[in-house]
Amino acid sequence: AWKPGNIIDDAIARVREQVGDGHVLLGLSGGVDSSVVAALLHKAIGPQLTCVFVDHGLLRHCEGDQVMKIFADHLGVKVIRVDAEARFLGALAGVSDPEAKRKIIGKLFIDVFDEESAKIDNVQFLAQGTIYPDVIESAGSKTGKAHVIKSHHNVGGLPERMKLKLVEPLRELFKDEVRRIGVELGLPHEMVYRHPFPGPGLGVRILGEVTKAAADTLRLADHIFIEELRKSGWYDKTSQAFAVFLPIKSVGVTGDGRRYEPVIALRAVETIDFMTAHWAHLPYDLLDVVSRRIVNEIAGVSRVVYDVSGKPPATIEWE
Ligand code: XMP
Repeated sequence: AWKPGNIIDDAIARVREQVGDGHVLLGLSGGVDSSVVAALLHKAIGPQLTCVFVDHGLLRHCEGDQVMKIFADHLGVKVIRVDAEARFLGALAGVSDPEAKRKIIGKLFIDVFDEESAKIDNVQFLAQGTIYPDVIESAGSKTGKAHVIKSHHNVGGLPERMKLKLVEPLRELFKDEVRRIGVELGLPHEMVYRHPFPGPGLGVRILGEVTKAAADTLRLADHIFIEELRKSGWYDKTSQAFAVFLPIKSVGVTGDGRRYEPVIALRAVETIDFMTAHWAHLPYDLLDVVSRRIVNEIAGVSRVVYDVSGKPPATIEWE
């Protein structure tokens, strides 16, 4: 019978056998897969694991601090946090094409990860959160989005250059199994059952040029939306939900007068496989609360709209 405990014991035994007394490097993103790998390897080899967490400044509200709290403070995992916000925003300045933005973020991510990894002595292994669907997808198609998606967090030429051997303890598992293992290993339920978040982060949810001001505004709006979804029980009924920053201004009016500010769009979808999706029929009352809170609590927003597009034709993300 499938029990998380058996899978964990088995994975631990295999990792120990593979790495011996070698040192393992892991890129921790805060996503489910890399988080579960971190917790698993910590249990298997403790101090032989070093994680590098690249904070590109395009994470969700308080996400970087939460990752550090769970892994470094709570579990005692060795995590190096790299605060690279200024570098990412600098590289993105003036760039508004979606694919160009993705490429810049992906490349810089790898550069920063490489630089930090080079400072750690004596690493022989690179751990990755590859899961079974990734294995099938990249075997079937080299051009599909799935391959592109995973390649963001995978670390380019690093394994060959540093002569690292790969450690992939989730390679035979499906997502739901990975989640159950994560809970069993003591990761918080909210982390393990969190909606997916794209590697380029808010970089593809701020349409056009990415600025610090837009990222700060978007983080707050997104946080309000997610908070209300959780409060109302709708978070777990949607597959993915988030706010998008639209850099077009619209006129609004409040007690103290007229405002002319950017627009926030809300997106919530239901999907099985993320290849097609329906927009979530959120209750009007919930949308009303979210909209009021966003406009009242965030100075730089005049208007909130709800995205009622399915996929296809619209993708889940706006860029
Ligand atoms: P789309 O927008 O193509 O998204 O309908 C499908 C799923 O993939 C996620 N996504 C990404 N994930 N890097 C990622 O790691 C990316 O560049 C990327 N683009 C989209 C998206 O959040 C959704 O879950």
